[in-house]
Amino acid sequence: MDLYVLPSKLKDSEVSVPGDKSISHRALIFGAIAEGSSSFTGFLSGNDCLATLKAFLMMGVNIEQSDTNLTVHGVGLMGLKKSISPIDLGNSGTAVRLLTGLLSAQKFDSELIGDASLSIRPMERIIKPLKKMGAEIKSSSGCLPLKILGNKHISSISYKMPMASAQVKSSLLLASLYAEGESIIIEPSVTRDHSERMLKAMNCSIRCNNKKVRILQPMKLQPLDIRIPGDFSSAAFLIAAFLIAKKSSLILRDVGINPTRIGFLTIIKNMGAQIKLENYRSFGDEPVADIYVQSSCLKGIEIDDSELISLAIDEFPILFVLAAYAEGMTRINGIDELRHKESDRIKSMCIGMKNLGVSLKEKKDGVVIENSEFMGGDVDSFGDHRVAMSFVVAAIGAKDKIKIKDVKNIDTSFPGFIDLMKSLGVSLSIDAPSKVNF
Ligand code: S3P
Repeated sequence: MDLYVLPSKLKDSEVSVPGDKSISHRALIFGAIAEGSSSFTGFLSGNDCLATLKAFLMMGVNIEQSDTNLTVHGVGLMGLKKSISPIDLGNSGTAVRLLTGLLSAQKFDSELIGDASLSIRPMERIIKPLKKMGAEIKSSSGCLPLKILGNKHISSISYKMPMASAQVKSSLLLASLYAEGESIIIEPSVTRDHSERMLKAMNCSIRCNNKKVRILQPMKLQPLDIRIPGDFSSAAFLIAAFLIAKKSSLILRDVGINPTRIGFLTIIKNMGAQIKLENYRSFGDEPVADIYVQSSCLKGIEIDDSELISLAIDEFPILFVLAAYAEGMTRINGIDELRHKESDRIKSMCIGMKNLGVSLKEKKDGVVIENSEFMGGDVDSFGDHRVAMSFVVAAIGAKDKIKIKDVKNIDTSFPGFIDLMKSLGVSLSIDAPSKVNF
């Protein structure tokens, strides 16, 4: 499915975004192994989380889902059942990495598969430490399919992670739930801590000190009843749209502002964004606020702080777009992890932006982007939801129509994005504009 987007004026708006993807995955995973039923509202029924939901149905967990309401009837730490067929996790790196940790410690064998993009993403980063814990995992040269053998004795681990990754950390935390004694996981930079917050809320003995997480094997996990906040990473696209649109303002309600997720706010404030947070509160253990955004004149900056980068890891595609709109030059270094996402995001963004006339230089671990106008033209999303949404935003202030190829995957994280953008005033259509009335 291709999308055509015309330069557009945005209307002053007040909206909310769908539930947080990372927290929705964890609601299903931790809920499934809790002792009793957990209820969540604000669940993200995007394709990634639905793949995780299906995985647990295949492992005998009773789950009721109606729109954004989710009830997970937990079976306890040892209650999962062997799936009779391979578990297909679609496009979701979070699902495959977290489930591998969990399944390494079960009594039964499992096989995990995924789509073409997931099948080339690196899994050695979880296989290596999980093997140290006693897991037995067979892969295809470090990639899917993964065959996870059951009935292994899982030991605790003390592990210094070589890369900043919440997926790796959470995978090890899940395996640690089955290991006698204390596991210690040390990260090179702080990454999103939704697993730690949820486990703590479920009464698990877990202590976090800056980059060190210590966890003890729990007797059981207590069920939860929480509301999931709006996904800050989805909100980032709307924030960016209103920053670059002329004379417009946006209020975003109920957005998760967990400090391990909002590096993007720090970065855009440094670029001159007019943005403020109000109505601070919490949904369960997750902080939430309303975000007020206004059209702003942005200026180019340098981004190379690894701590800040890992707090904004999913927001770089849209930051690339903002950098082209910003006065002067933006230099970004140290983002090589982006090459291992749903697509090689440095490459996907650079190819598309160059096609649209942006002056930039791709580097091994970053990019230099010069203030440029986006011309019209064709770009490929490379099947990557965040690349597709970034180009929709880029088109708002472009000179001419932009055609974005292959936007179906937007549904993995932001179902309803296209209709929401339309309601904000963006002229877009899934048919060629000559055939439709924009
Ligand atoms: C996620 C962790 C991040 C992020 C992804 C979601 C999670 O991946 O990019 O969208 O929910 O744990 P890495 O752990 O690979 O950085």
